[in-house]
Amino acid sequence: MTQAVRWGILGTGRIAHAFATALMDTPGTVLAAVGSRSVESARRFGAEFGAPAAYGSYQALCDAPEVDIIYIGTPHPLHADNASMALEGGKAVLCEKPFTINLREAEQVVALARAKKLFLMEAMWTRYMPALAEVRRIVASGEIGQPRQVLADFGFAGPADPAHRLNDPALGGGALLDLGIYPLSIASAILGPVKSVQAQAEMSASGVDAQTGFTLLHEGGGMSVCSCSLVARTPGELTVSGALGRVRMDAMFHCSPSVTVTLADGTARTVATPYLGNGYVHEALEATRCMREGLLESPGMTLDDTLALMRLLDTMRGQIGLHYPADA
Ligand SMILES: NC(=O)c1ccc[n+]([C@@H]2O[C@H](COP(=O)([O-])OP(=O)(O)OC[C@H]3O[C@@H](n4cnc5c(N)ncnc54)[C@H](OP(=O)(O)O)[C@@H]3O)[C@@H](O)[C@H]2O)c1
Repeated sequence: MTQAVRWGILGTGRIAHAFATALMDTPGTVLAAVGSRSVESARRFGAEFGAPAAYGSYQALCDAPEVDIIYIGTPHPLHADNASMALEGGKAVLCEKPFTINLREAEQVVALARAKKLFLMEAMWTRYMPALAEVRRIVASGEIGQPRQVLADFGFAGPADPAHRLNDPALGGGALLDLGIYPLSIASAILGPVKSVQAQAEMSASGVDAQTGFTLLHEGGGMSVCSCSLVARTPGELTVSGALGRVRMDAMFHCSPSVTVTLADGTARTVATPYLGNGYVHEALEATRCMREGLLESPGMTLDDTLALMRLLDTMRGQIGLHYPADA
């Protein structure tokens, strides 16, 4: 593939706007088309971001010959159907997190992509951020000793509207799937595969988890202590600690502009980790690179990684009694 990778965007909501903004900062890409349930919304979005084609249905976008890869930015219960439709249309897929609502759906989508030999990637953008690469480099250097503990949280005060997707069980609401996936993903990126998980939650009036805390034991040793919340503005930090010191992302761990190493002797140093554009550029660059190189998955977030995280989310949902209509 020598020409620009031609992107389609499916859904015209909040994160789709952020991703379209990122594409404008991503060399080697072009936004070729957008698809929405409403042609007006598709046209508005297309005009805002300069997409030449604007379709009033997801099917039309998935059938469009001028598109190589489709980014899916719909609520989680729709991811499996939307991704499958795109794959059936012969398109590669970058699908928002959480990849699907449950493991069963995730396995179906992954099997379809593998059968069709099409590129598929979960849009776990934090895996591709420079701050995580620096944390991994510092940990691998041995400077903090063997990494034994990860502490990670993500919480904000969510919308009060019971119909908002974050509160609505039919739209996959709750903190765990929307926010908890980030500490879960970053903990497993740093300490490796998880052998066991234990979660507790406080449930909301609408029947989703308002906040969840969980601990992970990792196969290779070490543990992670994680939390997510839709009712508390938590620090959003990541700290990796060993016997010799710790390394900490200095801001919301998914878009940290620097990391700080603090050693047992009390010395500390801060390393700048600037990121491109609004941060989503890094995942767009990675998916574009994979398309150009003919890869079927991204080494930074393999499909087996995605399935492992979905399995853990299912396990935690069982522990806290969080059920969705799509589980039936
Ligand atoms: N990576 C990140 O940082 C990040 C941040 C926020 C959200 N997300 C993920 O992105 C996904 C979408 O989140 P969002 O905040 O962008 O949601 P949103 O603003 O509500 O947008 C979702 C879009 O999906 C489409 N849609 C199709 N069926 C729908 C339905 N029944 N109800 C509502 N919308 C429907 C709509 O687009 P059309 O009307 O055009 O069809 C809508 O604009 C979620 O899975 C979320 O976890 C990721």
